[in-house]
Amino acid sequence: MEKVLVSHLKDFLGKEVTLSGWIFNMRSSGSIFFLLLRDGSGFIQAILSKNEVSDETWNNCNTLTQESSVELLGVVSKHPKKEEYEIQVKDLKILQIAEDYPIANKEHGPDFLFDNRDLYLRSKTPWAILRIRDSVFRSITNYFSENDFIRFDTPILQPTSCEDTTELFGLKYYEDTMMYLTQSGQLYLEAGISSFGRAYDFGPVFRAEKSKTRNHLSEFWMMDAEMAFCDQQKNEDIQEALIKRIIKDALSNCKQELEILERDTTILENLLEKPFIRIKHYDAKKMLENKGFKVDYNDDMTTEEEIEIGNTYNTPVFIEDYPFAVKAFYMPKYTDKNGIERAINADLIAPEEAREIIGGSQREDNYETLLEELKKRNYRVEDYQWYLNIRKYGSVPHSGFGVGLERVVRWISGVHHIRETIPFPRTINRFRP
Ligand code: 4AD
Ligand code: MG
Repeated sequence: MEKVLVSHLKDFLGKEVTLSGWIFNMRSSGSIFFLLLRDGSGFIQAILSKNEVSDETWNNCNTLTQESSVELLGVVSKHPKKEEYEIQVKDLKILQIAEDYPIANKEHGPDFLFDNRDLYLRSKTPWAILRIRDSVFRSITNYFSENDFIRFDTPILQPTSCEDTTELFGLKYYEDTMMYLTQSGQLYLEAGISSFGRAYDFGPVFRAEKSKTRNHLSEFWMMDAEMAFCDQQKNEDIQEALIKRIIKDALSNCKQELEILERDTTILENLLEKPFIRIKHYDAKKMLENKGFKVDYNDDMTTEEEIEIGNTYNTPVFIEDYPFAVKAFYMPKYTDKNGIERAINADLIAPEEAREIIGGSQREDNYETLLEELKKRNYRVEDYQWYLNIRKYGSVPHSGFGVGLERVVRWISGVHHIRETIPFPRTINRFRP
């Protein structure tokens, strides 16, 4: 007898198969049992008729509880009306009768669900979201390997900061050395591209952010990419192609998942057909001011401003050239006609309240300018000497960007809070289980 996964059942129509799984839900009507079974690859209704099975099997069925593990033998049939398969059970073996399961098929609050995240993972919503996460992961890997990038893993323990020094998790490294959990592998990738030209990393990064928003995690997954001989416009072209690839794959590979999440995919479908918007930070602030926002031209975008930008264009928007003062030390800068120093960078803002999903920029490639900036910001120059040195030996214009994986997954899934998009979330208030 062939043992198959629910996701492969369509190839076994009319055939006898065995399935292993857990009882997700069940109901009986006199002489028929309807079992909703999940096996990890999908969900299926299994139908047991009293006169088609042995008395023992029938009696066993009466002892089943939610989440009990079973193995069953049956014939695959198609649902009379829907595009779904069913299984007409001939035999059922119980592996374990589950104890009273804490997560009943009813509404629970998020605190309860995340206190029981180890069990909550089995519910349909996390199942759908984390499978979308898997799709995004694969799209990124495929896109890069098809576009001449090599994977270049950067260290998690780093002696310096990459972004804001106030958001570092430090730890004692052996006797008396301080080290920090990485905020981004970017600086190391910049060394990597002098060997490989185009490289990316993908791994967990850490930010000791005090933010309690639905968009911030203390531990999240970042994909940094870096390209030699590449300016900021070309950098944005690559980001746009990557995001389109991710969305296109998710729409075609995750239909069932998006359906479970009741995701309206109109905006996702539409963005594939047209170029993303590119506007300057100044013009974005001006647009917001015209809409009645009280804006600060010299500051970052606020949460409300990012949401409004998303709602205005309903497609991803590159906001270019932020005031240098609010951005990281490694960005090149110029002075605009109003005398404001601006970075050559862009944040990519996604619509539907997803906000910033990518941060990227061109990199300062002049040794002296970079050195001066490090000093200005009171960074310990000796710690960055190796990074500065990249500018000594064949410095080239180069650019890169970092994608926040969970931000992208949150957007595609359309879920309210980012904690849903990672198996075991870490935020300022949540670090168990
Ligand atoms: O904008 P960020 O801070 O950029 C960097 O770290 C660059 N060094 C990346 C690079 O150029 N290689 O972070 C990049 C992205 C953000 O756009 C956002 O999507 C995500 O990482 N991100 C977070 N996601 C979840 N929780 C947080 N606390 C995040 N902080 C940033
Ligand atoms: Mg950013």
